[in-house]
Amino acid sequence: MRRLTVPAIRKRKQDGVTAEPIVMLTAYTARQAQLLDAHCDVLLVGDSLAQVIYGLDSTVPVTLEMMANHTAAVVRGSYHSVVVVDMPFGSYEASPAQAFESASYLLKASGAAAVKLEGGEAMAETVEFLIKRGIPVMGHVGLTPQAVNVLGGYGARGRGDAEAGKIVSDARSLANAGAFSIVVEGVIEPLAVEVTKAVPCPVIGIGGSAQCDGQVLVTDDMLGMFERVPRFVKRYDDLASRISAAAQAYAAEVKARTFPGDAQTYQPG
Ligand code: KIV
Ligand code: NA
Repeated sequence: MRRLTVPAIRKRKQDGVTAEPIVMLTAYTARQAQLLDAHCDVLLVGDSLAQVIYGLDSTVPVTLEMMANHTAAVVRGSYHSVVVVDMPFGSYEASPAQAFESASYLLKASGAAAVKLEGGEAMAETVEFLIKRGIPVMGHVGLTPQAVNVLGGYGARGRGDAEAGKIVSDARSLANAGAFSIVVEGVIEPLAVEVTKAVPCPVIGIGGSAQCDGQVLVTDDMLGMFERVPRFVKRYDDLASRISAAAQAYAAEVKARTFPGDAQTYQPG
């Protein structure tokens, strides 16, 4: 099977209708990518690796090098999904030229097909600049975690009319600039529906609505790797307790000298 392309993702939504919703998950490692690839259309190397992999408490400290390394691993581990890489905070906001420099580095270093960046109208010129120079862009509106120091937290967005209207117009600006898809995160459900209807390109929800054109979750969240997750996460497994139980069993066998057993040891001859 040939790898999906960015235009194929864009074309999933035709005349406002998405017959087959877009399946997207985050991936940060080659093995994770191998396991997720067959089930996904898009693998996102999210800057959420800040919290998930690095134990940071926001995405603000993430660097281009961190993103490039994890993205290269995800590209090596996948052959079907479109790999999209998040542009980290500080690598694109200053100017379209800065964004091109950073985005081209990420694509060269990793083999990803597209970048994602946060922000609406303020980023529209940059989005157009990148696309005209060969770099497909996925937008990200609503709750934009890189702006945590301005927003003051990770609460749901769009509860007031002014804020909701701004999020819709941000999505429109990105779509007009040529974004092939837009993530809408952490907004009240009717607003996620409104954004989905407002733009011609696919809208991928996270903390949005089942009526969006696709969904994304942070894989480690949906696998149950963390005790505290946002309301919008559904846990499809409880890996944290399974990993703890496995480590506990191993530790007990090491202490009891019952591991390694016959099956795990080499004998002469
Ligand atoms: O960084 C990330 O994982 C993301 C998704 C949650 C959309 O941006
Ligand atoms: Na992100």
